[in-house]
Amino acid sequence: MGENINELISNLKTYLEYLKGMGIISIPVSDDILEELTPSKILTLEMVRKELGDCKRCKLHRTRRTIVFGEGNEKAILMFIGEGPGNEEDVQGRPFVGKAGQLLTRIIESINLSREEVYIANVIKCRPPENRNPEPDEIESCHPFLLRQIHVIQPKIICALGTFSAQTLLNTNAKITALRGKIYDLEGIKVIPTYHPAFLLRNPDKKREVWEDMKKIAEWLNNSRINEME
Ligand code: URA
Ligand code: URA
Repeated sequence: MGENINELISNLKTYLEYLKGMGIISIPVSDDILEELTPSKILTLEMVRKELGDCKRCKLHRTRRTIVFGEGNEKAILMFIGEGPGNEEDVQGRPFVGKAGQLLTRIIESINLSREEVYIANVIKCRPPENRNPEPDEIESCHPFLLRQIHVIQPKIICALGTFSAQTLLNTNAKITALRGKIYDLEGIKVIPTYHPAFLLRNPDKKREVWEDMKKIAEWLNNSRINEME
């Protein structure tokens, strides 16, 4: 790895000198490339939040009260990603604090973790009017910021809550019923899709399946702790 990077830098230097020789003394660099070049260590959630600013990138800014960025441990091993803020979240500016949120808190505690130990975010950061489903353009506008949050936190596991989260993270149109029960890989991060807590409130008989998914997560966390001790 180290050698490859040295070679890359050397080649890049040669190339830049070649450009300079041709009279090209500056090159436009897109934000995307700059981001690639920024080591994850120096990018912080605070910086991502600052960049998001008083976001007006999609139409939801007109009706939202607050931006619900996400909260929890910046170094979390486990991250939960929901759909988008509801009314209570929109009022408080915090994710998962309404009825579904209280259930999520209990789900997290069922595997002996606290909300403070994990990180909780959403696919979209502003509440859609009347809690309608997020629209593709809204998901697209917000996606780079979700990816940046994941990039900073570098979780080992993401638990995707519900259809929109699972579909967005896994880039698929498959239904949550088809997606859950399996473990997916997102650039080295395990993605475990499960039912959304709001869905569980309406379908309590599905709690058993979520419990199965949580046990899988807990087992994986325990094994990775044991491996770290060895
Ligand atoms: N539902 C979500 O998907 N996210 C929240 O933050 C709250 C409810
Ligand atoms: N439909 C959803 O949108 N989410 C679920 O978790 C289950 C069904």
